[in-house]
Amino acid sequence: MAEQDIPTTGREWHLAARPDGWPVPTDFALVEAPVRRPGPGEILVRNAHLSVDPYMRGRMNDVKSYVPPFALGEAMDGGAVGTVVASGAEDFAVGDAVLHGLGWREYATLPAARAVRVDADLAPLPYYLGVLGMPGLTAYAGLLEVGSFRAGDTVFVSGAAGAVGSLVGQIARLKGAARVIGSAGSAAKVATLVDDYGFDAAFNYKDGPVAAQLAAAAPDGIDLYFDNVGGDHLEAAIGALRLHGRAVLCGAIAQYNDTGAPAGPRNLALAIGKRLRLQGMLVGDHAALQPQFTAEVAGWLRDGSLRYDQTVVKGVENTAEAFLGLLRGDNTGKMVVSL
Ligand SMILES: NC(=O)c1ccc[n+]([C@@H]2O[C@H](COP(=O)([O-])OP(=O)(O)OC[C@H]3O[C@@H](n4cnc5c(N)ncnc54)[C@H](OP(=O)(O)O)[C@@H]3O)[C@@H](O)[C@H]2O)c1
Repeated sequence: MAEQDIPTTGREWHLAARPDGWPVPTDFALVEAPVRRPGPGEILVRNAHLSVDPYMRGRMNDVKSYVPPFALGEAMDGGAVGTVVASGAEDFAVGDAVLHGLGWREYATLPAARAVRVDADLAPLPYYLGVLGMPGLTAYAGLLEVGSFRAGDTVFVSGAAGAVGSLVGQIARLKGAARVIGSAGSAAKVATLVDDYGFDAAFNYKDGPVAAQLAAAAPDGIDLYFDNVGGDHLEAAIGALRLHGRAVLCGAIAQYNDTGAPAGPRNLALAIGKRLRLQGMLVGDHAALQPQFTAEVAGWLRDGSLRYDQTVVKGVENTAEAFLGLLRGDNTGKMVVSL
């Protein structure tokens, strides 16, 4: 893109109101804002793909957490990949593809030090928001490092048709799990888990109590639970875990829109006698695994042993709707917005 072709304004999403329970479209506003030319050490990126992720729901509340809340009436942010269209930084040239944190907008001006160059020949650009990016590392580190996965484990993962869950189940299979079980929210997703991702068993959590469906899928119990959901899923897993079982507490999406006290788990005391280990995780703690993760996962993608799906919503104007769709379960694999 020639300098004179860079527009003077671009669209960006602002948080217009803090959601009370489930977010609604009027909580978001698409605003025309100036596109600032990069100063020394900065780059201007035309975003090509934006990430919408469940953790963003937490950032819409005005509470202190491990990431600061979005400010009302200001641009939201999140993962994005795009192309450098103007550079004031020595180490980035126009045309470079980069991953950075100023999503939810068409154009982003940022310090070059906050962008990572990505290789569009190695993988399609949106893969760096998913299988080769934050959700991929979450699955890899959560299963192998936090969950201390061992070959022969029986593994249960919730949110199993989503970005993280679909990779957890497949990595467990590739690493020699005895049995992989997944739960998801539709019959079509359950079929995908078994037919496409190689899960040994899967169930639709909307069909009946999770505990009963898990007991049927894993009659001898489980060794490792990867929790993306919380609530009744975590309670069911605590019931199914064997002696010295492990649970990776990665997410609790079932309660992100709750306004009252969260449900369960009511059976936590079982963890005492079974000597369970329930461990929370944040992907940011596992950056040291990045080179090993990228090499191994890129290899599986290349040789076809890992299947990766994306649900692509088109147009920056549909970003808020894509985020709402993610919370509703519209996605199989990673939800991305392509501009
Ligand atoms: N700790 C960390 O560092 C870290 C990093 C990344 C992600 N996470 C967490 O990991 C989880 C998965 O993230 P992701 O990016 O891979 O998202 P995702 O699974 O691709 O998308 C979210 C999925 O959650 C499911 N869902 C929504 N409401 C639900 C409910 N009440 N009960 C059960 N499932 C529900 C939906 O699928 P269904 O159709 O199956 O309902 C939806 O597709 C989230 O909890 C997220 O917060 C944590």
